[in-house]
Parts: sequence; structure tokens; C-alpha cells
Amino acid sequence: MARRKYVVGNWKMNGTKAALDEAQAIFAATKDHDAVDVALCPPFTLIGPMIAAAPGAAVGGQDCHSAASGAFTGSVAAPMLADIGASLVIVGHSERREGCGESDAEVKAKAEAALTAGLSVILCVGEPRGVRESGGAIDYVLAQIAGSLPAEFDPSRLAIAYEPIWAIGTGLVPTVDDVAAMHGAIREKLGQQAGAGAAEGMRILYGGSVNAENAAELLDAGDVDGALVGGASLTAAKFVPIVAAAAAL
Ligand code: 13P
Repeated sequence: MARRKYVVGNWKMNGTKAALDEAQAIFAATKDHDAVDVALCPPFTLIGPMIAAAPGAAVGGQDCHSAASGAFTGSVAAPMLADIGASLVIVGHSERREGCGESDAEVKAKAEAALTAGLSVILCVGEPRGVRESGGAIDYVLAQIAGSLPAEFDPSRLAIAYEPIWAIGTGLVPTVDDVAAMHGAIREKLGQQAGAGAAEGMRILYGGSVNAENAAELLDAGDVDGALVGGASLTAAKFVPIVAAAAAL
């Protein structure tokens, strides 16, 4: 079964209303790529305005709480994202696993809450530099999958993003062979944990220093179904060529 390519921009903590023009330009330039699904995940403050500026575009959050509501100052619940028109959310990004101490169990609860709210989910995994250097990257990532994959899910609504921490924002990228080996191992693990049908239907994205120059090669690696892009998703000039590279495959 052919999986549609999926290219998602994670704006992280970047962007004010002035950036909506850029989002409009991105969606306008990529809406004709029929073979590629494109989404942007801006800061919470821009989700509603971005949907208003680009009706019908896929816009999502970068995190959500695992509870539907409650006394959690500063947090945003998955049903709230759905309520303002978001269609997806990223969970388990390393900047939250590491920076906010999120455990696999917490990431799993967030993913399940998001699916229950009707959102699609991008569940991030990835190893730190020391683990890669010691040869333990695949075991580390598969343990993250074991601990954070929801118990039940529709494979078309749950994607995995493999983002080696040492490649994020550094300009460093793994070799294409290492990416293919990791993605193949993730798909095999998904098959063991969720069944062959789920593994076949789920998209596995690569993230970490993806740019216009390296996108074609990375997106063409075995078991790579798309990209989760940080810095290069902030402008149409940098992001649209990545989508075009996916469309050309
Ligand atoms: P960069 O593309 O800036 O390396 O960020 C990757 C990332 O963390 C996307 O979620």
C-alpha cells in the first residue's frame, strides 16, 4: 500500500501575527501537490489565526495535555485544539521530553487524549548523541516506541517522527543508511506491537536539520514517508522546496 508523503513544519516558539503571510504563502504554494500532505504546527497563539488566514489548511499544535480539562495552569487540552480547528498535534518532541521531563507514559497519555479528541498525532522519538555514539540508538528508540505508542489507534491518524536529538538544529544529519535502518526497525517494531496492518499504514517521518538541499535524499530513504521540519519550515522560500522534493518522488 502506498503511503502518501507527509511534510510537517514545526515552528516551535517562533512566529507572531506578522508570520501569517508566510504561512499563507506556504499553503498557497503547496496545495497543488496532490501526492503530499502538508501541515504547519505554529505556537498555540497562531493556530486560530493561521486557520483563519488559510482556510482548509492542516494546522496543528506542538503539544497537548493528557487531560481533557482541569487545573493545569498554562497547559492546553486536545479538545481545545480540536475546538479551534486544529487537525493534528505533535507529542513527545525531544524538546519536551528533555526540557520538560516528559516520560514515555506521559507521551502515550497525550497521544491517546489527542486521538480521542479527533486529532491526528505525530509522535516523536529519537536518541541523544551519546546513545548514537555508543551504538544503542535503535534499542533506545524502540524502547521509546514500546512505552509511548497508544494502545489502540487508527494507523492513518498516527505518524511516528524519528528525530535524533543531535541532528535537531545542528546541521548534522545521519547517513541515509542509518536513517533507513532506523525507520525499518521502527516499522518492524510497530508491526510487533500494533499488527502488520498498522505498521503498513503508518507514516514514519524523519526530522533533524532537513533542508532544501538534503530533503530529496532523506525522503527517498527506505521507510521514510515524510519529514518533520523545524528551522526550514519558517519561510516559504525554505519550506516549499522540501515539499516539492517529496512531491517529486
Ligand atoms: P530542525 O529542522 O530545525 O533541525 O528541527 C527539527 C525538529 O525538531 C522538528 O520537530
